[in-house]
Amino acid sequence: MCGIVGYIGSRDTQAVLIEGLKKLEYRGYDSAGIAVFTPEGLKISKSIGRLANLEAKLEGAPLVGSAGIGHTRWATHGKPSDVNSHPHADHTQKFSVVHNGIVENYLELKEELTGQGYIFVSETDTEVIVNLIAREYKGDIVKAVQEAVTYMRGAFALGVLTEYEPNKLVAVRQASPLVIGIGEGENFIGSDIPAILNYTRKVYILNDGEMAVLTENSVELMTIEGNFISREMTDVEWDEVTAEKGGYDHFMLKEIHEQPKAYRDTMLGRIDASGKKVVLPELKLTDEQIKNITNIHIVACGTAYHAGLVGGSVIEQLVRIPVTFDVASEYRYRSPLITPQTLVIVVSQSGETADTLAALREAHDNGAHVIAITNVVGSSIARDADDVIATLAGPEIAVASTKAYSSQLIAFYLFALHMAQVRGTQTEAEVAHIIAAMQALPEQVEKMLENTDSIKTYAEEISKHDHLFFIGRGMDYAVVQEGSLKLKEISYIHSEAYAAGELKHGTLALIEEGIPVIALLTQEHVLEKTVSNIKEVKARGGAVMAITYDEHVPNLLKSVDQALAIPKTLPILSAALSVVPLQMLAYYASLARGLDVDKPRNLAKSVTVE
Ligand code: F6R
Repeated sequence: MCGIVGYIGSRDTQAVLIEGLKKLEYRGYDSAGIAVFTPEGLKISKSIGRLANLEAKLEGAPLVGSAGIGHTRWATHGKPSDVNSHPHADHTQKFSVVHNGIVENYLELKEELTGQGYIFVSETDTEVIVNLIAREYKGDIVKAVQEAVTYMRGAFALGVLTEYEPNKLVAVRQASPLVIGIGEGENFIGSDIPAILNYTRKVYILNDGEMAVLTENSVELMTIEGNFISREMTDVEWDEVTAEKGGYDHFMLKEIHEQPKAYRDTMLGRIDASGKKVVLPELKLTDEQIKNITNIHIVACGTAYHAGLVGGSVIEQLVRIPVTFDVASEYRYRSPLITPQTLVIVVSQSGETADTLAALREAHDNGAHVIAITNVVGSSIARDADDVIATLAGPEIAVASTKAYSSQLIAFYLFALHMAQVRGTQTEAEVAHIIAAMQALPEQVEKMLENTDSIKTYAEEISKHDHLFFIGRGMDYAVVQEGSLKLKEISYIHSEAYAAGELKHGTLALIEEGIPVIALLTQEHVLEKTVSNIKEVKARGGAVMAITYDEHVPNLLKSVDQALAIPKTLPILSAALSVVPLQMLAYYASLARGLDVDKPRNLAKSVTVE
């Protein structure tokens, strides 16, 4: 997500900070800024857009000093703008903070602080943090930070400076990564290793609930409660490119592993403290409007469209409202039936896809309310939509979308539950039950990713084939369409995804001895039906791999060649788990074929032409 760098020492602080931010550019950002202790006090310079804009500003007015913090922002709360970019200062300009993450209860805190006379200029949750620290300051910045964080719920990594104690830089980690770099007569902080790798390879990695107090010559580690910690220093052996990938071989693999965090972040602040209710305070769509919706159109391209297929089915099941699905390039040319009571949901990771943007405009021209589910809140689609539900997956760099897809699912689950609450189609107990299952998803994904050896072996097998099939029913059919796309785009193996019951209407003719067929079976109400379709495939010589819940494996092994177990969840949530082995399958197949996993041929990350 955002990038943090911090420095205390005798080098040119501005240069160290800018250099660190440059190393974080690859992650994507929409604005950047630095704060430095200068002889005239704490000074901040920041700018929307590329780092070059900030550098141009600094050229005219350089910030010279001995300590500073810097940030590249990927907008979440508040659009990209100069004023929303970091670092933020309190209203006395004596404290400054850079922040990664989300403070869930920032609106409550902002209201409280405003009532106490604190003045806010930005729309960010970070400005709440810096004012909280200022409020709690009684002559000791460490205590003030410790006190302030007790009021904050959510995820945060912080770098904090105050003009009152210019020889200290304070860092805090709570569910958002932060490392401390150790130098000689100088020390560093970074949200990611590349930010500091040019200067040091000796680091302390902070754990959740820990903080560090840095001076030029010392680093103290402690818990947020103030208990000192002693920790071994880690020697970073990664080269620059490996460091960018967080030690993974490819961005795609890193992003697959980031899914648990993306799930947690996308849910953060959107489930109330009781765990029984979804809250989407960002929506302008009123309860009255929700009650009046007659139908929903879901429009998107590629992987985002596949997320829409799952999301739309969830809405239909929980809200009992008709949903239709369109690939965006078709939508406006088929003269869709849109009325002011139609809700149009467009889905786009980048928020810049030309076809999706055109569909959004078509919907607007016909009077529909448009919600965008997007990963880039400052994007064209986010700007044009009436409402935005942001996926908090952080920048996605690999061309093949993984964590953006799965966090789009989470956004859909949240919105479906919100609609169900408003329209009264699910009881409070039913909503609470689904929420509890959603909250278990991140850990279930973590567990699945602990050991992917059998997927790797299977991927190596299928990498020798040129054609294969995926089958599934209901929600599983939606997910295998994504699995098939992922495999095609990065392994160049031709695959097709079929509704399991549809094979016999023609495609079965293509099944011959040894052709791999991957069957997904998580929808228990149609499990037996899919097993019958598997038997049709087996009878024609197909080699079937089943992906299903543990409890079904022994029985299924009577009908298939191999089986892979995934953790169990509710049928409507299964996609958020079952997609993971399919992503890994595509990844390993691409690897086995010696292909460029992160940059497949002929494809671009953002498709801005029709
Ligand atoms: C495939 C993939 C594409 C995109 C599609 C839409 O892995 O990433 O299919 O999903 O090009 O892009 P966005 O979501 O940016 O609108």
